[in-house]
Amino acid sequence: MYYEEISFLPHVPDRLIDDLTTIRARGNLFDPQYEHFYSCFLVSRELKIFLQNYFEHTINARYQVITAQLPIHVDAGGLISKYNYLLDTGGDAVETRWWDSVTNPKTVVYKHCAPLKHWHKLTTDIPHDITPVARPRISIEIHMPKNDYVTDIMPDE
Ligand SMILES: [Fe+2]
Repeated sequence: MYYEEISFLPHVPDRLIDDLTTIRARGNLFDPQYEHFYSCFLVSRELKIFLQNYFEHTINARYQVITAQLPIHVDAGGLISKYNYLLDTGGDAVETRWWDSVTNPKTVVYKHCAPLKHWHKLTTDIPHDITPVARPRISIEIHMPKNDYVTDIMPDE
């Protein structure tokens, strides 16, 4: 399954959501060479605790900001899937697309326009991108740290 709606995760209260200036002030965690289209940031301690309550295993929770067309890719670190919750879709009818190949993509095998503020699960080890954005596409992302992955350091800890 490429895309799955998730019901066990809650609506995120507005009081726990930071604005983009505050988010960016935490510093990009991702490789800076990709910063012109993708960056990610720690969430607040309060939001991390709020989300962790819904999982038995330790999670990483981050804001993702997409500012330009993503190349077709599979996610770094061998992540199989992640949970995502859009705070800004980045434009009207922006779609997530899954492709048959990273190096020689010819066919979209699945596409979906994820709605605002609904948790969903994305398959991230199959080549994917999104259609162009008109403004920053902002989401909260949750994934399970792998053994070779550093678990998030909580802000103010
Ligand atoms: Fe991805």
